Amino acid sequence: MPPPGSHFQKTNMIIANLKFPNNLFLAPMANVTNLAFRMLCKKYGAALTYSEMISANAIVRQGEKSMQRGLTCEDEQPFCIQVFGNSSDTITEAARILEEAYRPAIIDVNMGCPAPTVTKQECGSALLNSPELIHNIISDLTGNISTPVSAKIRVLDSMEKTLKIARTIESAGACAITIHGRTREQMYSGTSSLEYAKRIKKELSIPVIVNGDIKDGISAKHALEYTECDGLMIGRAAIGTPYIFRRISHYLENGEPLETNHCIQQVNDFIEYTKLVGKYNIFSPGNIKAQSKAFTKGVADSRIIRGKLNSAHTIGSIMDVMHGMCDETS
Ligand SMILES: Cc1cc2nc3c(=O)[nH]c(=O)nc-3n(C[C@H](O)[C@H](O)[C@H](O)COP(=O)(O)O)c2cc1C
Repeated sequence: MPPPGSHFQKTNMIIANLKFPNNLFLAPMANVTNLAFRMLCKKYGAALTYSEMISANAIVRQGEKSMQRGLTCEDEQPFCIQVFGNSSDTITEAARILEEAYRPAIIDVNMGCPAPTVTKQECGSALLNSPELIHNIISDLTGNISTPVSAKIRVLDSMEKTLKIARTIESAGACAITIHGRTREQMYSGTSSLEYAKRIKKELSIPVIVNGDIKDGISAKHALEYTECDGLMIGRAAIGTPYIFRRISHYLENGEPLETNHCIQQVNDFIEYTKLVGKYNIFSPGNIKAQSKAFTKGVADSRIIRGKLNSAHTIGSIMDVMHGMCDETS
């Protein structure tokens, strides 16, 4: 039985007639949320997984690498593809190509990326300066593709401006909205405000998903209870720790932490990640090295282990370091 006041939803999370097994979602993260990583998060209970952001321009120009980012498999459903761009025509054309190829449950538009390479092209969080363009993008999409459309935003420097964007997204036909409670200028620093998501949830009728700084059961419970949002999206806390989804859902359901052997869990999950990368044919040495370091998170003496991983130049030597990680710390 969930503790009184719990907002963990085991059965009734619905977006655009899609019923989700719970309300914990994996955030889109460039260079992290490939199919292998998403499948691990799914295994641990992420109800909806998001692709890395995909350039609409690149899809329309038939960019192979960008197309690959939408790669999915039947077991992953429901999953969401996120696109970025600044022209409603190009985004709609890209969305048509992606829906045809991968049949995602939702297509999300990135309105939050603060990276200068993206904002210089007037994409990502730069769109937040143009409510009219946002309206055109969402209404063109909803009018021309059959997949439900959502948007993920950052907040602006005032509540009124942020509410205006949220209302625009809803009135243009989006099925849901995600609010990361930082401004574009904050990048990833400072704290993520919950005030905006709380206020937007009060005003809008579509599901609102709160995102930013949710890292454990306590912060998840607080974010859900304080904002009364429909769902939670988890980003950085899942990097190197896909098991976070099980930990958080356990806490939300039982009101107490889940006891596990963290180090062994991390090694096993990393090994499974490497197998999944092979299975889906998306192996890349750079990614394996980066992920091996990420999976040392929270392990005792992780700096020493990461030092060893830095000097490991073959997949075999990376695997040796990871296999020995728990011996190292015992
Ligand atoms: C490595 C990395 C890559 C990211 N890539 C994307 C992206 O492709 N699309 C997007 O909307 N947000 C992206 N984000 C932002 C996250 O989705 C999320 O909004 C942000 O990290 C705040 O949530 P958190 O505190 O749970 O990490 C990225 C964040 C990180 C750390």
